[in-house]
Amino acid sequence: MTKNGKVVLITGANKGLGKEIGRQLGALGYTVVLTARDEQAGRAAAAELVAAGCEAYTVRLEVTNPDDIGSLVSYLDTTFGKLDVLVNNAGISIEWDGKPTDADKVRRTLEVNLIAPYAITEALVPLLSRSDDARVINHSSMLGSIGTAESMWKQVGGFMAVGYSTSKAGLNMLTLIQSKTLANKGIGVAAAHPGWVKTDLGTQAAPMEVAEGASTVVDLVTIAREKFPNGQLWHKGERMPW
Ligand SMILES: NC(=O)c1ccc[n+]([C@@H]2O[C@H](COP(=O)([O-])OP(=O)(O)OC[C@H]3O[C@@H](n4cnc5c(N)ncnc54)[C@H](OP(=O)(O)O)[C@@H]3O)[C@@H](O)[C@H]2O)c1
Repeated sequence: MTKNGKVVLITGANKGLGKEIGRQLGALGYTVVLTARDEQAGRAAAAELVAAGCEAYTVRLEVTNPDDIGSLVSYLDTTFGKLDVLVNNAGISIEWDGKPTDADKVRRTLEVNLIAPYAITEALVPLLSRSDDARVINHSSMLGSIGTAESMWKQVGGFMAVGYSTSKAGLNMLTLIQSKTLANKGIGVAAAHPGWVKTDLGTQAAPMEVAEGASTVVDLVTIAREKFPNGQLWHKGERMPW
């Protein structure tokens, strides 16, 4: 497989959409760094990709842990000297357990789904600035889209848990803000809605297979620079309302 010299970091990539995005990008010649909070799970995922012919590595990252983020930056600097693409993929949905949500669940969800992507992106700006085509993709959800919430309420309102939906709405605004503030450093920022996908988070009731679900992020990583939808939320090649 021909390498393209680009380094991609994917958070929460020991399973689900993160691992599949790594597999698809690795097959396209990207050097893939999969992060996982469980080191063993990260090693197993990277080994799977390597066995499939990809160049893949793993780093331990609990996304809410500032020390882990610091170690990740050092690792990337020492090993590659730059970062081309950051996919903020790690996410949780801890409110769909049949019990009422509460402030603690909302707080934990915001920490993982919103504050961590902010902190990780900020920490990686110096390494992204060394790329000639730097991109940040935030894995969002239509469940955070205020623009569709009202018209789609009958279909999706039952899935709109307070922590999850506000975290993704916040991630959308973070995407918009950083697409402006990081533009002068040559860093593009976009958000992706994968669809409702069969993963541990999406459950087996979801209609979409993981390979198809990964395609929106893979498209945003591979699309020509001049067509990159900076500051937008995308799903399968189309712009979605915020
Ligand atoms: N599946 C869907 O239908 C769907 C729809 C819209 C958006 N999304 C978004 O897509 C992204 C990936 O979801 P998925 O469906 O692939 O879910 P998943 O299979 O449950 O995978 C989630 C990943 O995030 C990791 N993670 C969770 N909390 C973490 C933490 N504190 N630190 C580090 N890693 C952490 C998990 O690690 P562990 O294995 O250690 O828990 C796992 O690797 C999420 O942001 C999700 O909101 C998914």
